Amino acid sequence: MTKTGPVRTAIFPVAGLGSRFLPATKATPKELLPVIDTPLIQYAIDEAKAAGIERLVFVSHPSKAAIERHVMDDAALRADLQARGKAGLAAALAETALRTPEDDVIFTFQHQPLGLGHAVLCARDHVLPGPAAVILPDDLILGEPGCLSEMIDVYATAGTGHLVATMEVAAQETGKYGILDTDTGTAAAQGRLFPARGMVEKPNPKDAPSRHAVVGRYVLDASIFDDLAAQAPGAGGEIQLTDAIAKGIDRVGLAGFAFSGTRFDCGSKAGMLRATLHLASQDPEYAEVLEDYGLAPRVAPAA
Ligand code: G1P
Repeated sequence: MTKTGPVRTAIFPVAGLGSRFLPATKATPKELLPVIDTPLIQYAIDEAKAAGIERLVFVSHPSKAAIERHVMDDAALRADLQARGKAGLAAALAETALRTPEDDVIFTFQHQPLGLGHAVLCARDHVLPGPAAVILPDDLILGEPGCLSEMIDVYATAGTGHLVATMEVAAQETGKYGILDTDTGTAAAQGRLFPARGMVEKPNPKDAPSRHAVVGRYVLDASIFDDLAAQAPGAGGEIQLTDAIAKGIDRVGLAGFAFSGTRFDCGSKAGMLRATLHLASQDPEYAEVLEDYGLAPRVAPAA
């Protein structure tokens, strides 16, 4: 396999309409829905920054300007907080916000909902040379080190051009995910790396080649953009990232990576609730609330 250089760019596809969360997403982008007090997009940005990503490319939609307002620094808001004696809050906002020119941030648009593959293709003119990461913010992955950090570490020696985060799902769940056709017979299949000879988008359980599902973290060889540009619509009539990845397997190779963190499907209401309960159970501030609902906190209540 070709040696491809460092992963410098992360692409955040955030143009989707969020119809599963209506009416909450009528005026608020789904990426700004919070788990406790932190919007999903913030977890994704923090994960990318911790992984040493240089450039962040957001593929958004003109109706979702609030994402940019959240992501970028708001000096007036911070000054106002300072003036009101809330220096701690102002400092916390300063730490997580992005600002130019210090941070390399690009917003671009996907005007039509033509699929995840099309969204990634919209970032093409903005990526730095070399492989690129893709982060889907509604797959919240909690853990230390972050999922993208782990993947970038492994990518350097994995010997495949495409690396995707993977986890095992129940047989009846395969229709919700890209599913890997894993090549577990090879010598390369070891530990947390699953070489794959194929990948299919949302197969029926009876047609699924395995139960290794792809979740929303990808490190992709730069050739993905040529494959996406040539990609015909697939499942659901959309241009699928899965199909373009599958097309490159013979040329650059593909492996799944079993990350160590815990993944929450925050594209679903149940997943959002799970993520909220998970974080609440680790914070003594919410111990009493959890007990009120018959749930045991995982940390001692605040004294
Ligand atoms: C997308 C991808 C799918 C992947 C999933 C992970 O599907 O198309 O291959 O398994 O994200 O969350 P979506 O959930 O956007 O329908």
